[in-house]
Amino acid sequence: MNVTDDIEEYYKAAEGLVLTAGKIIEGAINLNKNIKIKGIEWDLVTEYDRRIEDDLKRQLSNMYPQHKFIGEETTAEGNCLPKLTDEPTWIIDPIDGTTNFVHQFPHTCISLALVINKRIEIGIVYNPLMKQFFSAKRQKGAFLNGHPIKTSKVTDLSQSLIAMEPWIAKDSDYLVPIYTRMHALIQGTHGIRSLGTAALTLCYVAMGAIEAYHVEGIEAWDVAAGKLIIEEAGGTVIDTSGGELDLIVPRVIAACNHQIADQLVDLFKSADLETVNKNLK
Ligand code: IPD
Ligand code: CA
Ligand code: CA
Ligand code: CA
Repeated sequence: MNVTDDIEEYYKAAEGLVLTAGKIIEGAINLNKNIKIKGIEWDLVTEYDRRIEDDLKRQLSNMYPQHKFIGEETTAEGNCLPKLTDEPTWIIDPIDGTTNFVHQFPHTCISLALVINKRIEIGIVYNPLMKQFFSAKRQKGAFLNGHPIKTSKVTDLSQSLIAMEPWIAKDSDYLVPIYTRMHALIQGTHGIRSLGTAALTLCYVAMGAIEAYHVEGIEAWDVAAGKLIIEEAGGTVIDTSGGELDLIVPRVIAACNHQIADQLVDLFKSADLETVNKNLK
């Protein structure tokens, strides 16, 4: 079997497992949940996050005993940054949008990616509540429920709808820079949105529902699957500085095309500069 056949097989297995795991979210969304706090008071986790991650890991490692895993809930226990090697590695966010899940806000999903030689080969993001199954294989296009998707063709930031998540401003060090960027976006675009799920928001860029998304302070499992889905839909995912995205410490500008990404980088540079200047005064 060649590598392409392997990827097809891995994809089929992953698709089935994610669809089945989605039933856990569907079944639990309206139930009372056992909510725990992960260190910081607003970082919620439920028994379902752990259950989905355990199920996916167990089933995938039964099928592919050599494969490695980076999963949000397992990594949280180790309390250290995940290490990405060249080995086939499944990156799992069992519930992205846990706070939404807790509040029954129906933007919540499972995000699963397969990375081989540090290159993302498969990305799956599934919102079982809205029956949205986003998927991509490298160089094979991006799909929503089996139909090809493409990013928006808008090239002017002022004509764009942008998602941004300002929650990192809960840390007072980020308050001024993040609010300055938000203010710049309010002034310079059609509007901003904030959905509470990085993986799904990346897919909304991929399907052309929004032009771009900016978030910092997230992790590899929030972004791995969505990054491939956007790239396969014609978009780009880069670091806030304009450089290459670091999957392990992602600071994200995701955009429908390079023109919008470049304009966002420039806008944030001037907003950040304005903040520095104000603080110096
Ligand atoms: C969170 C969501 C949210 C992002 C947070 C993530 P979780 O993931 O993706 O949109 O802003 O940084 O932690 O905890 O719901 O899996
Ligand atoms: Ca979490
Ligand atoms: Ca997440
Ligand atoms: Ca999660």
